[in-house]
Amino acid sequence: MAMVKWGRELSVGVPSLDQQHEKILFLLNILQEGLMSGKGKIELGGVLNQLVTATASHIRYEEGLLARAGYGDGPAHHDEHAELMRQYCGISRQYETIGPSVLSLPVMGFLKNSLMTHIRGSDAGYRDCLIANGIQ
Ligand SMILES: [Fe+2]
Ligand SMILES: [Fe+2]
Repeated sequence: MAMVKWGRELSVGVPSLDQQHEKILFLLNILQEGLMSGKGKIELGGVLNQLVTATASHIRYEEGLLARAGYGDGPAHHDEHAELMRQYCGISRQYETIGPSVLSLPVMGFLKNSLMTHIRGSDAGYRDCLIANGIQ
């Protein structure tokens, strides 16, 4: 499965948000590399936890900026985040009991695609509003 990499085409125009997106994609790649090289449950679980924690803290931060900018689609954006976190936390809970086999190709594909689709679609949608409101 191909690695996902942050690039300028994913920029949402706010450096702090770009850095957070880049870090989340980086953690996804570390997770995939760990899976492919047969790392154990504890090590992989640590990366999965970092991924979930970084995503949750990014979402809090991003929603704070959207509120500051008075972004009109903020509530819908929040709902999308809540669904993303519900799914990520579900995978993380399953991992605790079942282990690395939870992170099958379809599940890894889901983790990547849901994130990339969100960044390219919904996150790209707030770009002009944040820039117009001087959010850096
Ligand atoms: Fe978002
Ligand atoms: Fe985001």
